[in-house]
This record gives sequence, C-alpha cells and structure tokens, in this order.
Amino acid sequence: MSAPDIIIQEVCPRDGLQIEPVFVPTQEKVALIDRLSALGFTRIEAGSFVSPRAVPALSDGDEVFRSIARPTGTVFVALVPNLKGAERALAAGADELNFVMSASETHNRANMGMRHVASLEALAAVTGMAGCRIPINATVATAFGCPFEGEQQETKVLDFIRRYLDLGAEGITLADTTGMANPKLVRQRVKSALQLVPAEKLTLHFHNTRGLGLLNVMAAYDAGARRFDAALGGLGGCPFAPGASGNVCTEDLVNLCHETGIATGLDLEALLTIARDLPRLVGHLVPGQVIKAGLARDLHPVPEALRQMA
Ligand code: COA
Ligand code: ZN
Repeated sequence: MSAPDIIIQEVCPRDGLQIEPVFVPTQEKVALIDRLSALGFTRIEAGSFVSPRAVPALSDGDEVFRSIARPTGTVFVALVPNLKGAERALAAGADELNFVMSASETHNRANMGMRHVASLEALAAVTGMAGCRIPINATVATAFGCPFEGEQQETKVLDFIRRYLDLGAEGITLADTTGMANPKLVRQRVKSALQLVPAEKLTLHFHNTRGLGLLNVMAAYDAGARRFDAALGGLGGCPFAPGASGNVCTEDLVNLCHETGIATGLDLEALLTIARDLPRLVGHLVPGQVIKAGLARDLHPVPEALRQMA
C-alpha cells in the first residue's frame, strides 16, 4: 500500500460512543479499539477523561486505556477538559492529550461548565503539568458555528489557535461540533489556520449533521489540510450541543479517498467488516452509506429478463 496522502484519526471510540444512550461494555470497547489499531490506524482517540456524570458512556476510560493492545505504530489519544482529566489520562497511559474548549463561550459553558478564561487556565495547567512528556493537542470546538450563538468570527477562532500555541499546545484541531460548516467557509478558515499551524499539526473535525461532512473534508483537503477526524459508522456527537449528530463516517471517507486517488493506508474492506459489527454494540443501525450500498466495484447480476434478450 502506498504512503498515505492523509491521516485519518479514528474517533469512534470517543466521539462515536459518547452520545450513545447505551453503555458499551469495557471489553467490547477494548476489542473495537484493538481491531482498529490492528487494521493500521496511526491515530485513535480511544476515550475521554471527563466527569463520569457528564458522559457516563465513557466513564471507563482508565480501564480502556490500560487494557488495549499497544502496537507501536498507533498513537492513542485521550480527550481531556481539565487538569484532573489530564492526570487520569496520563496515569492510564495515553500517548497524547486532546484538550477541548469551544470558540463559543455559551457552548463552552454548556459542555465544560467553564467560561473561556477558566478553560484557558485549565489548558495552561495541563501544558504545565509536572512530568508530562506527551504531546498536547488543543481543539477549538464550534469553530465553524455554535448551535446557541451562531456564526463564530474567524478572528476569534484564529485568536484561540494563537493562545493555544502560546500555552504550549503542539497540535490544533478545528471542530465543527454541530455540522454548521460549508465548503466555502472551510476553504477560507483552513487557509487562514495554515498560516499559524503547519498541515501536519492541524486536524479538521467535521460532523455530517447537515449532509456536508465529506464536502467539507474535500474543501479542507483542497485548501491544504491533511489530517482529519472520522468515526466508524458515522456515529458521534456532543451530548451538550442540541441537534448534534454523527461525525464524518470513516469508511465513507476512505471510500471517497480511494475512489479519487488519495491514499489513506487503510484497507476499506477490512474497515467495513468492523463497521458491520457496530449495530450490535450500540443497538441501532449506523449512518454510514457504503456499509449499506457496498463498494462501487461490487457489481450486481444483470436482470434475468435482460440476459434472455441478449
Ligand atoms: N474526570 C473525572 N471527574 C472529574 C473531572 C475529570 N476530568 N473533572 C471534574 N471531575 C469531578 C470533580 O472531582 C467533582 O466530583 P465530586 O462532585 O465527586 O467532588 C465533579 O466532577 C464536579 O467537578 P467541577 O470541577 O465542579 O466540574 P463541573 O461539574 O463544573 O464539570 C467538567 C466540569 C469539565 C468536569 C464537565 O463539564 C465535563 O466533564 N465536561 C465534559 C463534557 C464532554 O465530554 N463533552 C463531549 C466532548 S467535547
Ligand atoms: Zn465531534
């Protein structure tokens, strides 16, 4: 397989499961993550270390991180909202922390119970954490719009990127928490972000809430972005954002990439095999399209009536 043109970070174990009403048993989470790392994902967001009252579905992050296989080629990322989460994640063996706060103060208060100033203090505490030798990525959630406040000005989003970098974050994620981005906005915002962060340190995180997920990925790719979050099956969503729905679906994204000559380093058929197991875990069908339609090269038999006419 050729060297990948883009990096897909698999976030199903975190974003995908955090909004599900069922608690996927720890051993099932571990088995899912092990299958994903064995398939060759170089980055997996394997869980979060937030308040168990806020997100009960992921309250077993410590055990998940301690139990998963640790192949050398995979970086296992942990989402954290504060110092307590970072300390837990570090103790559980995370390879990288993903600190999250929102461009929108309203969403930050709804999601994290903090104003911007408190979240920035929390980020400073995390990056300054004694004995922390692992990289810290920082996410600007609602970077393309907030379900409470609406549009988020580019100057504000860029200012957060600068502050995160000043506080010691090595990577930056721009997250479209409730699918309010569009390709025109994405192209502009990615170009501006790339003035501050190199492509190998910038991740785009899109939700397909309004059906624009893959279009936004392609717009970002055209603008120079090379790292994307996606969730197997298209699961996902923020429990504290009204109307939230699934991430860009990993197997649909991989299909799009392979059909258009963008190497991902991932085996689509193997990915589909794992995705087909998701309804058993979450108790409902998942939004992915390719899982239902099959690959474009999976042809169907010519109808009998036509064959007889030949
Ligand atoms: N992990 C586990 N427990 C934590 C924690 C963490 N990272 N951070 C705080 N807590 C605990 C505190 O110890 C305290 O416990 P206690 O009541 O038993 O004493 C309780 O949570 C409340 O702590 P407080 O600091 O007052 O936090 P809060 O209630 O204002 O909640 C957050 C703040 C950030 C912890 C909470 O809003 C949260 O976890 N949000 C994350 C939401 C999320 O994951 N969204 C989707 C991903 S973007
Ligand atoms: Zn998300």
